[in-house]
Amino acid sequence: MGLDHADDAAVYRITESIALIQTVDFFTPIVDDPYWFGQIAAANALSDVYAMGGVPKTAMNLVAFPLKDMDMSILREIIQGGLDKLKEAEVVLVGGHSVEDRELKYGLSVAGLVHPSRVLTNRDLEEGDALILTKPLGTGIINTAIKGGLASPEITTAVTELMAGLNRAAAEIMVDFPVHACTDVTGFGLLGHLAEMIVGSGLGLQIHAERIPLIEEVLTYAGMGLVPGGAYKNREFRECMVRFKPTVGRLIQDVLFDPQTSGGLLISVASDRAGELVERLRSSGVKTAQVIGSVVAGPEEKILVE
Ligand code: CO
Ligand code: CO
Ligand code: CO
Repeated sequence: MGLDHADDAAVYRITESIALIQTVDFFTPIVDDPYWFGQIAAANALSDVYAMGGVPKTAMNLVAFPLKDMDMSILREIIQGGLDKLKEAEVVLVGGHSVEDRELKYGLSVAGLVHPSRVLTNRDLEEGDALILTKPLGTGIINTAIKGGLASPEITTAVTELMAGLNRAAAEIMVDFPVHACTDVTGFGLLGHLAEMIVGSGLGLQIHAERIPLIEEVLTYAGMGLVPGGAYKNREFRECMVRFKPTVGRLIQDVLFDPQTSGGLLISVASDRAGELVERLRSSGVKTAQVIGSVVAGPEEKILVE
């Protein structure tokens, strides 16, 4: 696919009908519970294959573990979490590699397959497309609240499950629709990933803030100042491409720049089929799927949030 497009996975054509997708992702713990951390890391690593319209097949563990300071049982739980998530996704764990390190890190490299003519990238969106987001926003803000000991047990559980949720159903459904582009929402936040989608496209985007699915209570936590540094960096990097209508308050703006962990898919689909796609997603368990905006002729490379 080339490196200049900032897609998260590489695609290599093997035959006329088979292409290999390769991707790798790992990070330091984002939740306290090692079993859930393992699940989230796996869901996150698999997501880049789903976002390209592919089917993940095999995976390998990457482990950095502080053997001297941490009990091995913690590592076993992390690996079990990853393994159980792979099983749910019908992906085979085929190996891995571990090193001793001062800081714990876990992730996976994933290989998947796709038909070469059906590869989805984060480019190729078309004027008139509808944009669909499949998971609610705010994991960065809620995780900041969790770290500060300020999040309720209910919201902590909800966000943990959200991050551990596979983008599989969404990916399997979208291939039946005229989808022109897709990506998953991760570290750059919603607006960062939207910006990436239109750079060099000659197109613009119109986003409806009130339609964007949000994690419950996220605006409250944002109002308490629990916005991670990454959100400000994302804003600094891309705000030249974004115009907010005065009705879009500062707190929701922060959520739109909030870096996500294992976020949802962002799908650009022909608008006449968007309603049907949302219906299918919702009836298949992707309950928060929602049309959040559209691809417009201009202003070029600008995102209007209203
Ligand atoms: Co990635
Ligand atoms: Co990605
Ligand atoms: Co090795």
